[in-house]
Amino acid sequence: MRQVILRELPRFPLADIPTPLQRLERLSAYLGGPGILMKRDDMTGLAFGGNKTRKLEFIVAEALAGGADTLLTAGAAQSNHCRQTAAAAAKAGKRCDLVLGGAAPSMRQGNLLLDTLLGARIHWAGSDRRGETLDNVASSLRKEGLNPCLIPYGGSSPLGAAGYVMAMAEIKAQLPFEEIPVDAMVFASSSGGTHAGLIAGAQAFGYTGRILGVCVEKGEQRERALPVEIISIARGTARLLGAPDLVPEGVQVLLDHRYAGEGYGVIGPREREAIRLLARLEGIFLDPVYTARAMGGLIDMIARGEFTKKERVLFWHTGGTPALFAYAGEIA
Ligand SMILES: Cc1ncc(COP(=O)(O)O)c(C=O)c1O
Repeated sequence: MRQVILRELPRFPLADIPTPLQRLERLSAYLGGPGILMKRDDMTGLAFGGNKTRKLEFIVAEALAGGADTLLTAGAAQSNHCRQTAAAAAKAGKRCDLVLGGAAPSMRQGNLLLDTLLGARIHWAGSDRRGETLDNVASSLRKEGLNPCLIPYGGSSPLGAAGYVMAMAEIKAQLPFEEIPVDAMVFASSSGGTHAGLIAGAQAFGYTGRILGVCVEKGEQRERALPVEIISIARGTARLLGAPDLVPEGVQVLLDHRYAGEGYGVIGPREREAIRLLARLEGIFLDPVYTARAMGGLIDMIARGEFTKKERVLFWHTGGTPALFAYAGEIA
């Protein structure tokens, strides 16, 4: 295997890593399918954990170096990324402003409750949940005399994705691929930074199995845009890491669009069943929007015979569990 030397990027420590890697023996037996491993990135340790912690270590380090006094980002009302950003800001002793989709609810629950406890200021953005108005909010913060660092939707910048390049190295240390091959890694893909980091990380650390994102959003436009965004982020990350040729031409982005159901954040029978199964067989909670959609997809793929008993699949639990409480009425 070629040896790739990566540049070390400044990091603001936020995550309890390595996160555990667990065998889900009861789930594998129940499904009669492949061996299933779970990488517990819901246990990154910052404010109920999740995949954004790894991205924020690099993003916050750069924000601090640039003299920012405020972290500004955007997401859905139940955004895990926003909750993690608010926690990172608290830990760094900075302000946090969040631009959230929707309107102020009468009661704050789940991630939104945590955002409030973490001291974030919320700007309600109506139908815009992907940061469409971030620049306007940034200008008004500057008029207040603040120096905001704009973090894109999902923390999915080339810098943020560096977190998942390093996560690939972490997995390799826990599970040497040459001795214990992993046939596929499965996870929820939305803004693409996690996927991009894993693609670049696979090239750097010699993972040759499939990297399969389950797309949580519906619509042809998103289906067309997401793989292009993922490659562009992965290439940007490679450049930041001093390895511009890391992501070769023609590298495949595997995205499964079959499980987006009625769209982002709409809970269906597949998500409910995945949440129930993981809780009852493994004592593990999935979140309704991302990990239950991806696990529901994996369960269906196994039922269709798309994985054999001899294979080994690694599922990334990317967090999001505080949203369970906000969706209680639709889950229980
Ligand atoms: C729990 C959870 N899983 C997965 C994702 C998707 O990660 P990415 O945006 O890097 O594609 C998110 C994004 O918000 C998330 O909150």
